[in-house]
Amino acid sequence: RAQGPAPTPPMGWNSWNHFAGKVTDADVRSAADAMVSSGMRDAGYVYVNVDDTWEGTRDAQGVIHSNDKFPDMKALGDYIHSKGLKFGIYSSPGPKTCAGYEASYGHEEQDAKTYASWGVDYLKYDLCSFGGIMKKADDANGGGTAAGYKLMIAAYKKMGDALKATGRPIVYSLCQYGVDDVWVWGPSVGAQLWRTTDDINDSYGRMITIGLGQSGLNSYAGHGHWNDPDMLEVGNGKMTTDEYKTHMSLWALLAAPLLAGNDLSKMSDTDKSILMNREVIAIDQDKLGVQAKQVYQHGDFSAWAKPLSGGRVAVGLINTSWSVRDLSVALKELGLTGSVKAHDVWAGKDLGTVTGTLSARIPKHGVALFVLTK
Ligand code: DGJ
Repeated sequence: RAQGPAPTPPMGWNSWNHFAGKVTDADVRSAADAMVSSGMRDAGYVYVNVDDTWEGTRDAQGVIHSNDKFPDMKALGDYIHSKGLKFGIYSSPGPKTCAGYEASYGHEEQDAKTYASWGVDYLKYDLCSFGGIMKKADDANGGGTAAGYKLMIAAYKKMGDALKATGRPIVYSLCQYGVDDVWVWGPSVGAQLWRTTDDINDSYGRMITIGLGQSGLNSYAGHGHWNDPDMLEVGNGKMTTDEYKTHMSLWALLAAPLLAGNDLSKMSDTDKSILMNREVIAIDQDKLGVQAKQVYQHGDFSAWAKPLSGGRVAVGLINTSWSVRDLSVALKELGLTGSVKAHDVWAGKDLGTVTGTLSARIPKHGVALFVLTK
């Protein structure tokens, strides 16, 4: 069946986690430059996504223009494309974006056309000020949430249809924090991905809460449509190397979009080795398109299994405690019997044959990531 513009989870960069409201045209161009020079493009990262605060005002015809930080969006798109990369942008279904800038309410078709004329390849559409519209509808209907949700879904569909009508393949990313089980209706509004939670931040606590909280959503992801546990924080500096490896491993197991959220022009070798680990990326991008399932959770130990093409299985053992732990999981809990060949992904090492139980010594807040082959 048709898979649309995101047959595998989109990979790229987004301005928000590092630059937030300060992002400028120059920051985005230097992110595009660094995406190429660092090797990230060749590792699969292609979208260069401008988040909130690019928006200016509408002209007399209602056409949206960028603000002073972004002198020429078409030129920016051309620059990004000239590097073999793709251009992403941001708006909201309400009258204002989350940061209070002009958004798309009542201008959906017009904005979709404008984006297409700028060469936009990806739109993140963030609920924010639409909440006021939903509340009004709910109040007028005697409370509850049904009337507001109906309007919200219609607003997301309106933009989805408008993007389709441009004839340009544009990835459509819903950002409404999982409200009203978006994973159930996301595909019906034309979306390729949808945020499942509130915002991530650069802390182990928030990252692991979101990551482990994805348990149970695996059946809603598949070719062309993905759960989005939010963007990466790798390289932003507030987690340890082991914690960032856990972040990257878990997102790959979850078949999550991999949108780097750091300053690509200032990456350490460690940041690069985490973001560009080819085997981890291959787990995320595997052509089977299956999201991992949590197969075991007890105390400080969580185990995840993601079926891969070729009958292989990616397995993550996660230690959420504050000390090093020896953790193990029975192969039968992973749906495997007999013996398997194990490969340690972060070590890049074959471990030989494993029978009965898969074990690893895992640092605090760390992960052991394996690919198992029958
Ligand atoms: C909330 C979103 O969840 C963030 O990722 C970011 O897009 C901000 N809004 C921008 O205002």
